Amino acid sequence: MKKILIIHGPNLNLLGKREPDIYGKLTLGQINSELKRIAKKRKVVLTIKQSNHEGEIVDLIGKTGNKYAALLINPAAYTHSSVAIRDAIAAANLLTVEVHISNIYSREEFRQKSLISPVAKGTIMGFGIKSYTLGLEALIDLI
Ligand code: DQA
Repeated sequence: MKKILIIHGPNLNLLGKREPDIYGKLTLGQINSELKRIAKKRKVVLTIKQSNHEGEIVDLIGKTGNKYAALLINPAAYTHSSVAIRDAIAAANLLTVEVHISNIYSREEFRQKSLISPVAKGTIMGFGIKSYTLGLEALIDLI
């Protein structure tokens, strides 16, 4: 079975209690359960990681080798600052979809730039948990 790596970036471990007006009330565990349900139905295997550390995310992407068919990533705050994560994705040459719970272009100016989008196949944002499920379905259709 094909494998997909899912990476949740910083502070996404706080989902459910973190700014629920923006990010909703679902916990990361609930989002992951829904992603696992889809994976089971579509017969792919997920590895799901969350990290608050840029270097750890770079390492996770760097170690993918040819173990994974695709990467689904919400880089969270690193979206707007991390050349290192962008370079890791470019170097891994891995089919990547970037997702965001909120629409970053309708928020503060500092969020209105993604360093990750240019190295992703596509970006889905603004649909809450649906950003993740649509992103996963898109990747599964592509691999
Ligand atoms: C986010 C948007 C980012 O700007 C923010 O730093 C996050 C979450 C989202 O999913 O909407 O942590 O990636």
